[in-house]
Amino acid sequence: MLKMISTQDLRLGMYVADVGRSWINHPWKSKHKLLTDQEEIRELLEFGINSVMVDTDKSNPEVWLTPPAQPAEPPKPTPVRTIAPPRPAPKPAPLKSTPEPVCQVEIEMARAAKTYAKTLDTSKALLAACRMNKKIELGPVTENVNELVESVSRNRDALMALMKLRNFDDYTYTHCLNVSVLAISTGKSLGLSQDELKTLGLGTMFHDLGKTRVPGHILNKAGKLSDDEFAIMRNHAAMSGDIILEQHLEVDEIVYKIARHHHERIDGSGYPDHLKGEDIPGLVSICALSDVYDALTSDRVYHKGRAPHEALKFIYSMRGSHFQPEWLDRFVQSVGIYPPGTVVALDSDQIAVVMDVNQAALNAPLVKLVADPAGQIYSRPKLVDLASASEAGGLKIKKVLSRDEAGFDPAYYFNPPKE
Ligand SMILES: [Fe+2]
Ligand SMILES: [Fe+2]
Repeated sequence: MLKMISTQDLRLGMYVADVGRSWINHPWKSKHKLLTDQEEIRELLEFGINSVMVDTDKSNPEVWLTPPAQPAEPPKPTPVRTIAPPRPAPKPAPLKSTPEPVCQVEIEMARAAKTYAKTLDTSKALLAACRMNKKIELGPVTENVNELVESVSRNRDALMALMKLRNFDDYTYTHCLNVSVLAISTGKSLGLSQDELKTLGLGTMFHDLGKTRVPGHILNKAGKLSDDEFAIMRNHAAMSGDIILEQHLEVDEIVYKIARHHHERIDGSGYPDHLKGEDIPGLVSICALSDVYDALTSDRVYHKGRAPHEALKFIYSMRGSHFQPEWLDRFVQSVGIYPPGTVVALDSDQIAVVMDVNQAALNAPLVKLVADPAGQIYSRPKLVDLASASEAGGLKIKKVLSRDEAGFDPAYYFNPPKE
């Protein structure tokens, strides 16, 4: 069987069936060979060959049983850089207090909306290139991801609200972008560096590239998938990783891992490699949680998405089995039970829009009171911190309202105040 393997993961005893280059562009006399000398791996790295096809049947069977040896040190930087995952031990750092936003959500909203729209277009182009087997343009994706990270750093609530308010777009395109926003936002509250956030953003944008190789009738099937269809569907995660290798994208190795492993679960029930516990890197866990959350809360052609608190309840039922408890807790604290943009009814029967998550009291976010108990819209909506006894006077959230039940567009309340 032929298997594409990253050059850095090659081991002596593997049979390279194809180096994927014409003879003039690789160091060997022939395109295939049984690896017997570490120098041969080093030569491939020198030539910038990042992945090769390995014939598993012709390889020494023991190479699949033993852990990989240390890869040969490349003499110069190679296009795919191997870096240690930013969080090698997948235990999240103690939660830092939420960084103070650099600017008000109403001010950031305009910039964030442009970035969101631009990145959505890039997401469409990215998936279209994959579908047509064309070269992926890394530049625009990196640029957009950097802008997402900068926007989240200024005020994370703007993109979080946009994500919620604009999920009426086609799920296929919004999903990658929304997972990216959720992951960057969570990473920010965990205190990841800007570089780590950018890597996380890129990995999450690429996490479902493999779905472009799943036939449409399976991908969009409304009913239950058959066992065969499910097997094809599951294969998308491995495919996402393969596409990154095939395309020779100049990305950190963790981007590949996020793509390949975003459906792994800590009890080993995930796929494609049935990784367990701490073998799943922290950034992959953030992507996995963001992925499930977005899938559960998004409206699809054939069903309505769940309310955020219901989705989190469902995810919580997998705490300790599918998801590492500490990562899950941090994710919930970051996203909040009532994310920005949620419309809620208070126990006073007043209607409010959530503006910001209060990480110390998830059931008491910062809200704008927008309508009285009779449904009369206030001309001057009042900002109230439900966690503050003096401001809220014990007011509590009674229930979440859908957009239809609310009867107004909550996006209006994120616009800059008129002078
Ligand atoms: Fe996926
Ligand atoms: Fe996904």
